[in-house]
Formats: sequence, structure tokens, C-alpha cells
Amino acid sequence: MKQQDVNPFLRQRYFNRASQTSWRAFAAHREQITARLETATGNSLCVLGAGNCNDLDLVRLTARWEQIRLVDIDAEAMQAGVANQFHTAGGMGRRERIEFSACDLTGTLEQCHAVAQVPSSENFARLRGALAGLPAVGQLSGPYAAVASTCLLSQLITIFQRAVGEASPELRALVELVRLQHLRTVAELTAPGGTAVLFTDFVSSDAHPELVNAPEMVMERVVREQGCFPGMNPLLIQRLLGEAPLASYWAEPPAMSAPWVWDLGPRSYLVTAITCRRR
Ligand SMILES: C[S@@+](CC[C@H](N)C(=O)[O-])C[C@H]1O[C@@H](n2cnc3c(N)ncnc32)[C@H](O)[C@@H]1O
Repeated sequence: MKQQDVNPFLRQRYFNRASQTSWRAFAAHREQITARLETATGNSLCVLGAGNCNDLDLVRLTARWEQIRLVDIDAEAMQAGVANQFHTAGGMGRRERIEFSACDLTGTLEQCHAVAQVPSSENFARLRGALAGLPAVGQLSGPYAAVASTCLLSQLITIFQRAVGEASPELRALVELVRLQHLRTVAELTAPGGTAVLFTDFVSSDAHPELVNAPEMVMERVVREQGCFPGMNPLLIQRLLGEAPLASYWAEPPAMSAPWVWDLGPRSYLVTAITCRRR
């Protein structure tokens, strides 16, 4: 079977099941994400790409937020993730603060699959047209005081990369469209005065095993040498957020954190948090 034949939803499901039991391995990464989401102001939090929720301490976050909306294409992963965290007495009574939305945040996986099956210029045009819309914004009953995207953008880009193939001349434009659609979705879902945090994974230990011991040095090098995952250079994303058409959303220039290591067992990733405050 060609990789283009695999339904992207089934592929995400497969990855989520494979990391379902990684709660312990995620501890340091979870602390980085949870601590940042605890300090944002307001009452409602929306997490895009919540998946197994291994990177969210929901017992702590439900103590902080009155309403938390978890969003992912994989409803079962979110439900199992929440059930795992609330199976003991911790967080008693606060689980009700969590709501789920199962949806494709790009709204284009059908068109993406069509391109993978038949890479005609009509199918590419249909896909590009669909990526100009923001389907998630209407579905998620926002806005929210805080919106987090938890290492989701790299997954979205990978879906399109697998569908069209790494050698396709169409790939670069599609990556840029998917990225812009995601950044606009995050911005639109964030309430005026609210906070958006884009947790961005951009390189793995497959290419740079030394990242585990020297995250800052590896980040500096891969950014300089264009060695990040396609479309995921964090400095470029920070710059895009600070330029038209996205700059008008923010009250101040987007800020980027130091990188940290996300240990996923056989592989580790470098991650940064890019934080934006809405006007
Ligand atoms: C890297 S995982 C995030 C990690 C996750 N928060 C956890 O702790 O397990 C990315 C998530 O994005 C979800 N995802 C991928 N494509 C999506 C799409 N088109 N719409 C919504 N969610 C998607 C996957 O199902 C997966 O759960």
C-alpha cells in the first residue's frame, strides 16, 4: 500500500494509540505546557490538538480554568486521556469543566485525500481554496481567554506532506497555506485581551541526537542551517505572527521561550512556546 492511500485520520489514531501510555515520559514536557497555561488570565481555555492529553495536567488546569475545551480529530484519545487523569480522587467534581470537540481543524482532510489519490490540478485548486477558510472557528463556540496549540502544526504539515509527496512542486505552497490557516485559526479563537500560545516542535533527535543535552545550541544551529521540520522554523513562525496579515491581532510582538526537550521514548523533540497577546 502506498503511504498516500492511508486515510490521515487512521494514521493519527494509530500514532495516538502508540503514545497513549507515555504519561510518565511526558512529565517534563507536560510541566512546561501546564505551567504556561496556568499563568494566563481569564476563565476559558481552548486546547487544539489535545489528543491523549499527556502534555496537559488536567487536574491542575481544571483548578485554574472554569471552562476547558479540548479539540482533536481523535475523540477517543481525548476521552481516554481525561478518564485516565480523573480516575482517582484528584480533581473530584472538576472534570465537568472539560468539554470536547472532535473535528478536523483544517476542514480539508477530504480534499487532501482526494489530491493524494488523484493529483490533478483541479484537485490541488480545490484543496488550496478550502485552506483559505477557517472552518474550526465557527465550530468551536469561541472566543476563549487562552488558546493553546499543542505541537499540532507539525502534524498538520506532515499530513499534507505525506499526501502530496516530498518531491511535489505543490508542497511548499500547501505548507504555507496550512501554516497560515492554523495561525489565523488560533488568533480568531482568542478573545480580545486573551493569550495564544503556540507550542512548536521543530526538530527531532533522529537528525540531531545531541539535542537532548544541548537544546539551545541545536536550536541555534538548525534555525541557522534551515534544518527544522518543513514549515516549522520557530523564528520564521514568530516573524510571520508579527507581520501582516497576522500582526493586527496582537497587542505586542509575539515572544518566544527557550527550547526544551520533549521525550517521546524512542525519539525526542525540541519545542518552544510562542506567546501572543490579543489586542
Ligand atoms: C503531537 S499530537 C499532540 C500531543 C497531545 N496533546 C498529547 O498529549 O498526546 C497532535 C494531535 O493532533 C491531532 N490532529 C492531527 N490532525 C488533526 C486535525 N486535522 N484536526 C484536529 N486534530 C488533529 C492528532 O490526533 C494528535 O492528537
